[in-house]
Amino acid sequence: MTPSILERTAPAKTILCGEHSVVYGRPAIAVPVSTMRARASVLPGPKDSGLVIRALDLGRDFALRNVGQDQPLARMAHLVLESLGAPEPDAIMTLSSDLPVASGMGSGTAISVAAARALSAFLGSELPPEVISALAYEVEKIHHGTPSGIDNTVIAFEQPVYFVRGAPPEILRIHTPFHLLIANSGIAASTRDSVAEVRHRWETAPSYYNVIFDCIGAIAQAARAAVDQGALQALGVLFNENHELLARMGVSHFQLDRLTDAAREAGALGAKLTGSGQGGNIIALVDPDTVDAVRQALIAAGATATWHAEIGC
Ligand code: MEV
Repeated sequence: MTPSILERTAPAKTILCGEHSVVYGRPAIAVPVSTMRARASVLPGPKDSGLVIRALDLGRDFALRNVGQDQPLARMAHLVLESLGAPEPDAIMTLSSDLPVASGMGSGTAISVAAARALSAFLGSELPPEVISALAYEVEKIHHGTPSGIDNTVIAFEQPVYFVRGAPPEILRIHTPFHLLIANSGIAASTRDSVAEVRHRWETAPSYYNVIFDCIGAIAQAARAAVDQGALQALGVLFNENHELLARMGVSHFQLDRLTDAAREAGALGAKLTGSGQGGNIIALVDPDTVDAVRQALIAAGATATWHAEIGC
């Protein structure tokens, strides 16, 4: 009999407002993008094989016993086994993802959340979102030293969140669904480098950067009210202002500015970079009837890929 394969998935995420300043205690809003997913499947392996991890997108297979815990997937596997008090199983875990890497959609976190869900389910005790979020936070520290916790929270809970570092996440109810176009600049960017650069700038001019962080925090609060009231014009303006402030913080890029300008000129209600910046993705808030025009404008301005996501549906 063919052994049955057990599969679990996890979504991409995008940050609506508040990236970077969230690292410094200001609020931020993030939403899952449920149509783009990372997948993990586990099936029983040969006796004494231990856990073999096949990372299809990395083109890499490795046995858990042969890698150190600085490897993020190995770290997650060990964390799951420790949480459950379970011995290493003889199993094969295969991972793949729709998400572009190094682009602000949380690809590393989505893979590790999918892996934790699948491995814990395989071991007969699927871990709840709050535990998976905490484990994914530990893995995030390998990707960049001082994560705020927003990425693991939105991906593990798979709900829109209003997030303040150190406080329990508040799940946002979206009464009026809205449409985002996500566009990839084609420029790979490292979250670790971008977060480290902002920290360096903040250390050299704390009062200046604290004002920027405060303004972005106020934008996140206003965006929360706009999302709650379905005030999409206002939300678009807040996207634009958040982008300006991120540019002042030094994390935009001429191609991100070009894409956000193109989206606005083609009728988007607002546009901003999303995630750690310096490359990666932008998001544009669009009316459903302008999706095609904005998408074409983004491609003409050099976007290498676009995705349409309905948020809150
Ligand atoms: C990365 O998706 C978001 C940042 O704010 C970093 C973090 O919150 O840990 C840039």
